[in-house]
Amino acid sequence: MAKIGVIAGDGVGPEVVREGLAILGDVAGLDGLETDLVEFDLGGERYLRTGEVLPDLALEDLRKCDAIYLGAVGHPGVPPGVLEKGILLRLRFAFHQYINLRPVRLFPGVETPIKNKGPEQIDLVVVRENNEDLYVGAGGFTYKGTPEEVAIQTSINTRAGVERCLRYAFELARSRGKSRAFPGLSDDDRSRGYVGQVTMVAKTNVLTFAHDLWMRAFTEVSLDYPEIKPDYNHVDACCMRMVVAPERYDVIATTNMFGDIITDLGAVLQGGMGLAASGNLNPDRTAPSMFEPVHGSAPDIAGKGIANPIAAVLSLGMLLDHVGAPKGAEAVRRAVARVLAAGTPRTPDLGGSSTTAEVGRAVREALEDDAR
Ligand code: NAD
Ligand code: IPM
Ligand code: MN
Repeated sequence: MAKIGVIAGDGVGPEVVREGLAILGDVAGLDGLETDLVEFDLGGERYLRTGEVLPDLALEDLRKCDAIYLGAVGHPGVPPGVLEKGILLRLRFAFHQYINLRPVRLFPGVETPIKNKGPEQIDLVVVRENNEDLYVGAGGFTYKGTPEEVAIQTSINTRAGVERCLRYAFELARSRGKSRAFPGLSDDDRSRGYVGQVTMVAKTNVLTFAHDLWMRAFTEVSLDYPEIKPDYNHVDACCMRMVVAPERYDVIATTNMFGDIITDLGAVLQGGMGLAASGNLNPDRTAPSMFEPVHGSAPDIAGKGIANPIAAVLSLGMLLDHVGAPKGAEAVRRAVARVLAAGTPRTPDLGGSSTTAEVGRAVREALEDDAR
């Protein structure tokens, strides 16, 4: 029995999670998985009603789950940061979800805004460090609200935290085993025996303490993976290169802050925020991992029933992989691929006029067809 904690959250969160859960009901049986869904009422509405963000009791109940499925948090009526830090970041830290895995994959049939690029060129994975950097919340104010005010927000980088992130990225590159067609590797690289690549993305030319630590850890860890090519880009150049030559990336390993930024860019490469999935992973399995779309609560379209549920559905696929249901995970990805290849139904973000529910239903129908 897999206990799945569900935090539908705010805005479009509940709208897309509903579709994911309906699909979970359809595919769990493929791996003989029995699920026990536990819903948690967390988010802006609860905060405005009770003043509670994430009570300790709820955190402990979430800890008992095998995985967490989250929609989004963030509410226009709540000051920025209260819910994002109080729920999302608190869970990522409390449960040692130190990897934020964010695949960037263009499905056939989906248009990317990048000229002359297709599914062959857009297939990379961002390994975002998820427990350190500016996200730790180290800092504070002095003389707040006065002309002499000082605000400090410090980036924390530990050798152990950086190293485990980099190791995860190298292991992932090893398991991906890029095909011969991967242009990130030259003939010369192949003759040296490289079968994959990890690009570390940082800013060693300015952050000469924090990212010097990153670079030294990268160089050392890379020695344990002689078949993986170590590659490095400054983050500004990475933004440029993700647009002009996304095919040159295999696995990107980066810091929490930079990973946040480049994965919205990555979402656009794969067709938009409505398609980008993610997993906050505790690879040691000492606490639950949490799966959620890369997007937020999208207040601009919330309540209209037109949010694209596919990012949430693909995140469910990642959850299934994590809880040992690989057949269900693959079935979800095949069904999504079929719906996207068919070109319809599509929500407005993909140029269509269908609803969230219609797209969810189409994925379920594709699953049924697949099972026949
Ligand atoms: P957002 O990702 O919510 O929205 C950015 C744009 O993408 C909007 O135009 C939105 O309509 C569109 N979009 C997002 N998801 C979509 C979907 N499923 N289908 C179609 N279009 C979609 O980012 P934002 O507007 O910067 O943030 C809104 C709120 O969400 C803020 O409170 C922010 O803090 C929060 N947020 C939460 C998470 C999370 O819970 N993981 C992630 C990002 C932002
Ligand atoms: C994301 C979001 C979060 C982040 C916010 C809401 C805290 O933008 O998951 O990408 O910055 O990690
Ligand atoms: Mn983000």
